[in-house]
Amino acid sequence: MTRKTLTQYLVEQQRSSQALSAEVRLLIEIVSRACKTISHAVSKGALGGVLGSLESENVQGEVQKKLDVMSNEVLLEANEWGGHLAAMASEEMETIHLIPNRYPKGEFLLLFDPLDGSSNIDVNVSIGTIFSVLRAPASASGRDVTEQDFLQPGSTQVVAGYAVYGPQTMLVLTIGQGVVGFTLDREMGSWIMTSENMRIPEDTKEFSINMSNMRHWAAPVRKYIDELLAGKSGTRDKDFNMRWIASMVADVHRLLTRGGIFMYPWDSREPNKPGKLRLMYEANPMSMLVEQAGGAATNGEQRILDIQPTALHQRVSVVLGSKNEVERVTRYHHEAKA
Ligand code: AHG
Ligand code: MN
Ligand code: MN
Repeated sequence: MTRKTLTQYLVEQQRSSQALSAEVRLLIEIVSRACKTISHAVSKGALGGVLGSLESENVQGEVQKKLDVMSNEVLLEANEWGGHLAAMASEEMETIHLIPNRYPKGEFLLLFDPLDGSSNIDVNVSIGTIFSVLRAPASASGRDVTEQDFLQPGSTQVVAGYAVYGPQTMLVLTIGQGVVGFTLDREMGSWIMTSENMRIPEDTKEFSINMSNMRHWAAPVRKYIDELLAGKSGTRDKDFNMRWIASMVADVHRLLTRGGIFMYPWDSREPNKPGKLRLMYEANPMSMLVEQAGGAATNGEQRILDIQPTALHQRVSVVLGSKNEVERVTRYHHEAKA
C-alpha cells in the first residue's frame, strides 16, 4: 500500500475544499520541516550536546533548557523568509517577533511552544512542539502587527497542531477538517499519513492529572477525581486508570489515540494564576485539535476556544478530552457556583 505524504494531503486539501490557501500550505510545510530538525536534535540527546539547562529564565520565570532555546531558534529561522507570516510569538520570548524587513510579509500569525515537556528532556521521555496559526486582523494591513493583534479567541485559529518526539516522531494537525496524523519516516525524511481521522471516544476510563497537587485543588476537581478513584465501589460504578506523562503533548496524544481526560486545573499554590498552562500556544491549539476529533475542552467554566485573551502569555485552567467526562467536570464547577 502506498501511503500519503503530508505534501500530498495538503495539496489535496487545497484542491478539494479551498479550505487551505497556498500560503497556509507553505506555512504548514515549513513548520513541519522545523519539527524534523528539532526531532533530529532531540534524538541525539547527550551525543548532540543538547541536554541540560542554561543560565537564563524565560518571561514566565522558568529556567530555560538548551532545547527550549534551540527549538525556538529553529522555528524562528525556518519561518522568517517564506513570506507567509506577519509575526510570531513563543513561550520563550517576552514579546512578539516581527518578520524582518528584508523578507516579504504575509497575513498570518504563528504562535508556538517550541519545546513542551521540558522537565522530560533530560530523562528521555516524550516531549513535543505545539503550534497555532491565526490570521492577522484586516485592520493590521499596511502596518506592523502588534501584540494586540494576536489576542484573538482560539475559535479563530486557522491551523493547530503538534509534533511529538517519542518512540516515533509524529505530526498531528487540523486545518478545521478533522484531525490527521503523520509519522516521520526518518530514512526518507518525510511525513507519512498514518491516521486519517483521529477521533476521541465520548466515554473513557483513563484520566491524566498531576495528583501531587490534590490538596491544592478546588472542590469540584476534588469531587470529580475522588469519584474516579472510588472506581467500581463508588458512584461511577467503573474502575478508572491513571496516566500522567507531564508533557502536555504526550498526554494529549494519548487521548487523541485512545480517549481519556486531561486536566491541569487552577490550584491554590498560586491562587492569582488561573492555571499553569498557557492559553495561546498550549491550551488553544490542543483544544482545537480535541474538538475537531469529537472531544471537548473547557476551563471548568466555559469553552476554552471562546475565551477572549487579554495577554500573550496568559494562563488558563484546562479540562479536555472525552466529551462526557469534560461535560461532567464542567457541570461540577457550575453546580459549585450555583
Ligand atoms: P513547558 O515544558 O512548555 O513549560 O510545559 C510543561 C507543562 C505541560 O507540558 C505539562 O502538562 C505540565 O507542564 C507539567 O507540569 P508539572 O509536572 O510541573 O505539574
Ligand atoms: Mn508547554
Ligand atoms: Mn515549552
